[in-house]
Order: sequence, then structure tokens, then C-alpha cells
Amino acid sequence: GSWYDADIDHVIISEAQIREKTTELAKQVSADYADVEDGLLLVCVLKGAVMFMADFARALGRQGPPAELEFMAVSSYGQGTTSSGVVRILKDLDRDIAGRHVVVVEDIVDSGLTLSWLLRYLESRSAASVEVVALFRKPDAVKVPVPVKYVGFDIPTEFVVGYGLDFGERYRELPYVGVLKPEVYARS
Ligand code: PRP
Ligand code: MN
Ligand code: MG
Repeated sequence: GSWYDADIDHVIISEAQIREKTTELAKQVSADYADVEDGLLLVCVLKGAVMFMADFARALGRQGPPAELEFMAVSSYGQGTTSSGVVRILKDLDRDIAGRHVVVVEDIVDSGLTLSWLLRYLESRSAASVEVVALFRKPDAVKVPVPVKYVGFDIPTEFVVGYGLDFGERYRELPYVGVLKPEVYARS
């Protein structure tokens, strides 16, 4: 046990499940982009996708194709537990993506608002192609349908934390994904 066990009601996706799924997703992406001439551009959506980006990029690195790692920071949730629908760019791309094959790396698709906005944004910057790999998706929470080619796990519409996912900026460092105890919400 550790300090955060007191706040987590139950684990829904374990470390081992995340590791296995990440390898599987990387193999699919490797196969689909095997012939891409100038490699892939992975775009990590900070902060939530930081853990998945690190593990997914390493898994991809075992077989290729070569990838460049880029980071954007956007936020639609602020401090709350539901999406505000207003997406703010906190950190933009720092290079031109025109003509490049982009794979957006996201931790979770919830309402779809963040991704649908981001996909429009990336397409307006003239990428050759844009696809999404998302480790988690909440199919019952979707408000805007977004085409996500690579999905790790479909999960129930509960507020989950860990492996990058936060509640008020906390719990991102948990190595697994779990459901917070209701009294933790009540506290804030
Ligand atoms: C979370 C999550 C996704 C997005 C999904 O990010 O990491 O990026 O919300 O929600 P949606 O499908 O309803 O738009 P958040 O805005 O909390 O920022 P963060 O990644 O910095 O935590
Ligand atoms: Mn996010
Ligand atoms: Mg968040």
C-alpha cells in the first residue's frame, strides 16, 4: 500500500494491462506507417498524455518507423470534473507540420471536445494525415463524435485518475487508472 490507496476506491486498469495494450497499439501503428518516407510526428497532448506518450514512443521505437516527438498543451477542464468545452492552447507546436504524417497521442477521449477541436486545428496546419491514438475512451460520454483510429480501452463514464489523468492536478503519477472515492470530491 501507499499514500494514495486511501483515496482510490478501486483500480480499473492495471499497470500490466496498460503495458500490454501500449505494445499492441504501437505494433498496429508501426505496421500502418511502415512505408512512410519522412517518419511520423507524434503530437502529445499535455499534460494528461505525458505518461502514455513516453511509453508509447518507446514501444514504437522497438520497430519503427522513426518518429519525432512534439508537445502541445491544451486544457478544457480547468479544475472541474466535466469538460467546459472551451479549449485553450497553453503551449503550441513549435514546428511546421505541413506535409507530415501526424499521430495525436491522447490519454483519454471523454466528451470528444478537446480532440475534435485539436483535429480541426492540426488539419488547418496542412498535415499530410492526422490520426489519433488514445489509450482510453468513454463511449457513453461522447458529445462530439471524433474519428479515433487506435483505441486502447473503452471504460465506463466514471471520473478516473492516474497514468496522466488528474483531479485538480493530482494523481497523474499513479501507475494505474482508478476511480476516486466520492469523499475525495466532497473535500474539494
Ligand atoms: C483531459 C484529458 C483529455 C481531455 C478529454 O485533459 O487529458 O485531453 O480532458 O476530455 P474531452 O474529450 O471531454 O475533451 P484536460 O483538459 O483535463 O487537461 P490535462 O490533460 O492537462 O489534464
Ligand atoms: Mn488532456
Ligand atoms: Mg485534466
